[in-house]
Amino acid sequence: MQTIRGAITIAANIKEHIRENTLMMLSEMLKSNDLCVNDVESIIFTATKDIDQAYPAKYAREIGFTNATLMCMQEMHVEGSLTLCIRALMFLRKPLDSPVNHVYLKGATALRPDLIKAKDQPVVVAIDGPAGVGKSTIAKRISQKLGFLYIDTGAIYRGITYGFVQNHIDLNDSQAVESYLNQISLHYTQKNLYLDNQIIDEEIRSETISKLTSDYSKNPFVRKFATQYQQDLAKSHSVVMEGRDIGTVVFPNAQFKFFLVADPDIRGQRRYEQLRNKGVEISLDEIINDIHLRDQNDSQRQLAPLKKAEDAIEIDTSYKTIEEIVSLIEKTIQGED
Ligand code: DC
Repeated sequence: MQTIRGAITIAANIKEHIRENTLMMLSEMLKSNDLCVNDVESIIFTATKDIDQAYPAKYAREIGFTNATLMCMQEMHVEGSLTLCIRALMFLRKPLDSPVNHVYLKGATALRPDLIKAKDQPVVVAIDGPAGVGKSTIAKRISQKLGFLYIDTGAIYRGITYGFVQNHIDLNDSQAVESYLNQISLHYTQKNLYLDNQIIDEEIRSETISKLTSDYSKNPFVRKFATQYQQDLAKSHSVVMEGRDIGTVVFPNAQFKFFLVADPDIRGQRRYEQLRNKGVEISLDEIINDIHLRDQNDSQRQLAPLKKAEDAIEIDTSYKTIEEIVSLIEKTIQGED
């Protein structure tokens, strides 16, 4: 008898998550194999030991598996294996004409990274977190190791802000903002950021643009434009994308999500050293104040605030080396953790 495998991870052991994700996994198993519920003879569900608030089988009835035989079982716990994971083994009434598509979603993608490559579908690794947490260095290294594109979404927001400043667009004039965004010529490449065919890599890193960007990125037209731009960049390429809202808004279904945090004083110290090395005269207190202000601005805004996605893995980078964090993320993606 032919079988299809499915697996998905959930953010928490609560009924609604079990329901929503079970339905998502089953629908995807049917859809990607061009099947309907009547083609299925039976399904065996298993769940890791940390899931006990509801039976996944109960929800399968909701999408019409009324005739199929269903059963749920608890998995054995193996040290270091995935947590909060629901799996399904679907038995078909008759064999498929085409090769089987097994379905691994969310954190469960890590179980079969080979399937991602085999299907050649773009993969998104989302790395979110506040300023100065090490996102850029880490995201760049991960992208090099995986051979994915590196997308710095902060640079995109900075580029838009720089464009507004250069063209004297008043942020309070919605019409001017919208019409400027309709004709903006912004081009993100792996080497440089271009605005109107000019490289603006250095200009967007000034302290003035850093401060202004935090304000400009609250604007709904700016967010809509940047979100669409970022989604388009990942249409045909696998990416490691770093920002504030990648795992929550830009790619809520990203296969891998990480949320980096670190003590604000340590972030300030790192930034201080970076600027001092560049010869910039600025006090540590000033930098730490600025970090607090930006954190507040970015996490308290109404639209797409800086926030950990429920299913993101949080990593505190305060006392870890870049190498340790990169290796942790790499192992998670390759399913060794
Ligand atoms: O990562 P960065 O410091 O270069 O980002 C500059 C600003 O852009 C940051 O203060 C908030 C905004 N930003 C955002 O709102 N959403 C993103 N995905 C990335 C950056």
